[in-house]
Parts: sequence; structure tokens; C-alpha cells
Amino acid sequence: MADKTVTLIVDGAGGRGSGCSRFALEHPDRLRVVGVAEPDDYRRERMAKTYGISPENQFKTWEDMAAREQFADAVFIATQDAMHADPSVAFADKGYDILLEKPMAPNEADCRRIVESAKRNGALFGVCHVLRYTSYTRKLIELIRSGAIGDVVSLNRIEPVGYWHQAHSFVRGHWRNEQESSFMLLAKSCHDLDWVRYVMGVRCTRVASFGSLKHFCPEEAPEGAADRCLDCPAESNCPYSAKRIYLGFLEKGRAGWPVDVLTPNPTPESVQKALREGPYGRCVYRCDNDVVDNQVVSMQFEGGRTANFTMTAFTKGEGRRTSIFGTRGEIYGDDTRLWLTDFLTDKTTEIDTAQPDATALGGHGGGDYGIMGAFVRAVARRDQSLILSGPDETLESHVMVFRAEQSRREGRMVEID
Ligand SMILES: NC(=O)c1ccc[n+]([C@@H]2O[C@H](COP(=O)([O-])OP(=O)(O)OC[C@H]3O[C@@H](n4cnc5c(N)ncnc54)[C@H](O)[C@@H]3O)[C@@H](O)[C@H]2O)c1
Repeated sequence: MADKTVTLIVDGAGGRGSGCSRFALEHPDRLRVVGVAEPDDYRRERMAKTYGISPENQFKTWEDMAAREQFADAVFIATQDAMHADPSVAFADKGYDILLEKPMAPNEADCRRIVESAKRNGALFGVCHVLRYTSYTRKLIELIRSGAIGDVVSLNRIEPVGYWHQAHSFVRGHWRNEQESSFMLLAKSCHDLDWVRYVMGVRCTRVASFGSLKHFCPEEAPEGAADRCLDCPAESNCPYSAKRIYLGFLEKGRAGWPVDVLTPNPTPESVQKALREGPYGRCVYRCDNDVVDNQVVSMQFEGGRTANFTMTAFTKGEGRRTSIFGTRGEIYGDDTRLWLTDFLTDKTTEIDTAQPDATALGGHGGGDYGIMGAFVRAVARRDQSLILSGPDETLESHVMVFRAEQSRREGRMVEID
């Protein structure tokens, strides 16, 4: 028997809210978007038009939407990081199942509050740790759990954020300043620590971390740098030039993310205007950013196992790379392909996990599609076990992130109890 059609309301019709909702366009029999809360008129109306949302189900804020009696099965909370906890608790209290964007919240107390309210209300609950849902991760887990490399002893992972992505999101953009959003390890790499925990398959017991804001600060500005790239005499020799990054993308026909964050429906004129007036035209050495641009985390896992993680801005920004070392073999992966070496035969096999692009939700190697499909199925069948990133798993890996950040700040190793 086919699953029932799940109804969803969306809190925040920005990049993620509008992007992941497209699952409903591809599977109208499985998901219907029936409400939206969004203060930005353009975004709210775009969403309403796309899904035929009736006027009484369009709201300017999540508070207004939560004030109404429950009118859908589930809510997708896709507002900014610091605006996750209150809506999550409010909608759970109203009876909704919850799909929450990562990170759960910028502090541990709020993360615990979210989990408590979901459990107290019996809500099905998932966090968009999309990397758990890719075909790459599925294949990797299958290999490890089948014993292909014996007992996993250690792991090494690098997240090459990318020079322009760092400048866009973490120097000029939404996640540049901890007070306004989250610290870097939480904003960008809660995915990675969650993924490392998932792959290791046992609990992390202690962490040590180092990291700094090394480069994107006034002391590193080139001689004579101006406040905005459009006025800057040093612009042509600066890899972080906003002019080169955004107009360059536009010239290559890339008008979606990240260019559409500057202005809806980007044109050379509207992007120039945004660079002249908006936050994305600012010199990367003269912003109000304070999050780190490089960080490492060392992790001790149960049973004498270890892992290392590196986040760095200073890369061209391709897929995350991981080596997993076992007692009988090793696996190296680049987010799409896996290379499995068997110590018994000394042979290496390459496995391509890329899947034909059957969906418009291509984001995160198919992870966006994966989480949406899993959540919708879980709600339709009332089965929390179909969600790989539920309240307990997510809280556990968020706690790893909070302890690692504590270690970086306090300059000492931190135990995880
Ligand atoms: N899972 C992932 O891989 C992934 C990737 C990127 C971002 N994120 C996370 O997703 C979240 C959203 O990111 P984004 O890039 O879509 O941000 P965004 O800024 O594009 O979208 C947030 C939207 O919330 C709206 N909003 C503000 N106040 C509101 C209110 N009171 N009620 C309702 N809506 C309100 C804003 O106007 C905006 O349109 C963030 O927490 C971010 O960290 C997750």
C-alpha cells in the first residue's frame, strides 16, 4: 500500500527552506507544502506560488504560523542558526513532527531543550545531517560493517571549505560572526563530527582542538586596500575579490548559489549594486567576522580508536576527503569515489558511488534528497527508526562539537561524559 501524503509547513523560505521543499514538486504523491512563514515578501510569495499555498496559510513570521492550530503533519525549520530552538519547541508543543536544519542551536542548553520537547511531545524528529544520507556514505558504511577493512582503528578527515566559500559565508556572509550565528566548527563542521561519529560506530570519549582566525583580519590586508572591492587598488591581485568571485560566476552562467544570495534574479547590474551597497562587496580584511579560518580536532573513541579532523579555508574547495584505517585494510574516499585496499591481497579496488542525477535536489551528493525522503517516509509510517539523524544521535555529535570548541578556547583536552 502506498504511503499517505505528508503535509509540510516551512519556517524560513530562504536557500534551504525553498531548496529542500522541492522534494514536493518531484513527489507530489508523498509530500505537499501547505504553509509558509517568511518575512521577505519575494521569498514568501515565490514559495506560495510554487506550491499553491492558500493566503490564510502564508505568514510573515514563524511566531504567527505557530500561533495557529496545527494544520499540517510536519514543519521544516530552515531559519538561521540562532532561530531554531524557539520554533522547534513551539511547533513540537503544537503537535508537529520536526525536520530541523543543522546546527540544532548555537548552545548546548538549547539543543537539549529541542530534544526534550520533541521527546515529550512524541514528535518524529530529524536534523539535516545530510551527509549521512548520501550513496557515498551508504556504500562506505556497508563496506565497514561487512568487515572489509577489519576493525576500524583510526580515521582522518579533511573539510576543504574553499577560499571563495569561506569568504562568502564565513567572512562576509551569514556565518561570519559568532554572536549572530554560530562558531565555525558548529556552523560548518557539525556535519563532519557527526559523520565521523557515525562511521566510527562507537562513542567519542575525549577531544582536543586547535584553531584560529589566521588570515581574514585587518593585519593581513594588502597595502592600500579599500573597504570595498569595487574601489580597491589591490583588487586585481586579491584572490578574495568580490568582483572576481561573483561577477566571475555570473559570466560563467552561474546565477544560482552563491550569487543569488546577493540579490534575487542576479544580473550584472544588480550584482554590481549589491557589491557597491551590500555586505558581500566588503573587503575580506575589513569585515566584522570573528570565526576561525582553520581548525583541527583530535578525537579519542571507545576501544582505543582515534580520529583527526581538519577544517581549512585555504583550498580550492572540493569534496571532503577521508582515510579510514582498519586492521585488515584501508579506505580512502573523496566524497564520490572510494578506494579499498585489502591487506591480505595487497589489491586496491576503486568504487564509484555517484548516482545518476534523478533529482533536482542534487545538493550535498544526494544528501538533501536522502534526508527529505527519509523524513517524509518516517512521518507517513510513524517510524522514527527511518531517520538516521534523530534526536539522540544528533545531540551526541553536537556535544562532541561543543566540547571540541571548549578545548580550542581553553587550550586543554576535554572529556565527554
Ligand atoms: N544541511 C545543510 O547542509 C545546510 C546547508 C546550508 C545551510 N544550512 C542551515 O540551514 C539554515 C538556513 O540557511 P539558509 O542558507 O537557507 O539561510 P537563509 O538566510 O537563506 O534563509 C533563512 C530564512 O529565514 C527567514 N526568516 C527570518 N526570520 C524569520 C521568522 N521570524 N520567521 C520565518 N522566517 C524567518 C529569512 O528571511 C530567510 O529567508 C541555517 O541554520 C543554516 O546553517 C544547512
